[in-house]
Amino acid sequence: MLLVGLGAVSTTTIAGVLAIRKGFAKPIGSLTQMGTVRLGKRTEGRSPKIGDVVPLSSLDDLVFGGWDIFNDDCYAAARTAGVIEPALLEKVRPDLEKIRPWPSVFDQRYVKRLDGPNVKKGKNKRDLAEQVMADIRRFQDEHKLDRLVMVWCGSTEVFMTEAEAHASMKNFERALEDNDPAIPSSMVYAYAAIRMGIPYANAAPNLTADIPALVELAAHTKSPLAGKDLKTGQTLIKTIVAPGLKARLIGVKGWYSTNILGNRDGEVLDDPESFKTKEESKKSVLDYILQPQLYPDLYENLCHVVRINYYPPRGDNKEGWDNIDLVGWLGYPMQLKINFLCRDSILAAPIVLDVALFLDLAKRANMHGIQEWLSFYFKSPVHAPGLYPEHDLFIQLMKLKNTLRYLKGEELITHLGREYYD
Ligand SMILES: NC(=O)c1ccc[n+]([C@@H]2O[C@H](COP(=O)([O-])OP(=O)(O)OC[C@H]3O[C@@H](n4cnc5c(N)ncnc54)[C@H](O)[C@@H]3O)[C@@H](O)[C@H]2O)c1
Repeated sequence: MLLVGLGAVSTTTIAGVLAIRKGFAKPIGSLTQMGTVRLGKRTEGRSPKIGDVVPLSSLDDLVFGGWDIFNDDCYAAARTAGVIEPALLEKVRPDLEKIRPWPSVFDQRYVKRLDGPNVKKGKNKRDLAEQVMADIRRFQDEHKLDRLVMVWCGSTEVFMTEAEAHASMKNFERALEDNDPAIPSSMVYAYAAIRMGIPYANAAPNLTADIPALVELAAHTKSPLAGKDLKTGQTLIKTIVAPGLKARLIGVKGWYSTNILGNRDGEVLDDPESFKTKEESKKSVLDYILQPQLYPDLYENLCHVVRINYYPPRGDNKEGWDNIDLVGWLGYPMQLKINFLCRDSILAAPIVLDVALFLDLAKRANMHGIQEWLSFYFKSPVHAPGLYPEHDLFIQLMKLKNTLRYLKGEELITHLGREYYD
């Protein structure tokens, strides 16, 4: 597993896998490790574990490597992140210390609040991409790896929109040579991975592989793609609660969401340009789930506000508050308050693991390009042009499990169920 950015999410994923491998903890939150999938009719009683249905790589076979702008090894970085308690980290310390970040591709222009010493120098962005590919080849040879997956777990970059440089592979490669500012660091890594046919996922909300040029390249090199922005914390709860309200046609007049967060991610998001990227990602979910165009009486002009406040004392332990102004029968107002005291990276780590294992499965199953069945894990699911993204967690889960059934040649489940009464 190639992880770009060895910060809170990456180190919690790596240390977690090492601890689980040694039997010190359980992979709670991971579908690939704990989930089951029902096969056949309800009367058949067949609900094997997902790992017994499709051939996923075992945790014992995973090897981790990655890049960061800081020199800290994974143990030191995990201590700085402060997510996993020191006693558990000590138990996996030797293995964590062996993972040292390779020099990164970084330009402060795209992440204003950060600066670090472990940065590559290159003639232009194409040269930097070549250096990333060389890192990957070296890692593969050193550990005799059969397959690779890359997940961007780096900081949220500034808000960017699609430009000429992103329109085709030809434009993109020219832009790499020209050092075009439309290519942020994250795209250099994505290009390197996809060029090598490696599956790529984006755990952050920035514009990366979701541009025509890289989708075109992925079709050519048969790389599966997934993203973007892991669905954890407040948005996870939002996509659980909103489908329920809509199912019962309960109106929503306003949804005010605020968070306090004290980790480095919070510090980066304190910059308005990085926050804008996150805000766009967080705000779109309600529109798609509630469909105001179909239900104007219930959801038109919904006032949706999202705030993130950097508050260092909390570290990685995010606190989210949601106030939802509801409308019921005859227009009577009601309110729902949700206070979620969560741990950001504890929610994110099992997703990074699942996405990596499922992308590797997709690659072996010859499924390349955008993997919409992995929308389940993302706040802003990447999707085909002209298609709206599916945000409802329950529809996403059904899609994921039906994809596993399809891969296994099992009957898809429609939930019609007439046969039980015939
Ligand atoms: N934790 C969650 O629940 C969650 C949910 C959704 C998305 N995310 C996103 O995941 C990303 C990682 O989150 P985190 O909490 O681990 O943040 P973090 O700040 O702890 O880690 C990010 C790491 O990336 C490094 N980095 C930044 N730019 C880089 C580059 N160009 N090359 C190499 N390394 C680079 C930073 O030095 C840092 O160590 C963020 O973008 C965050 O928004 C996190």
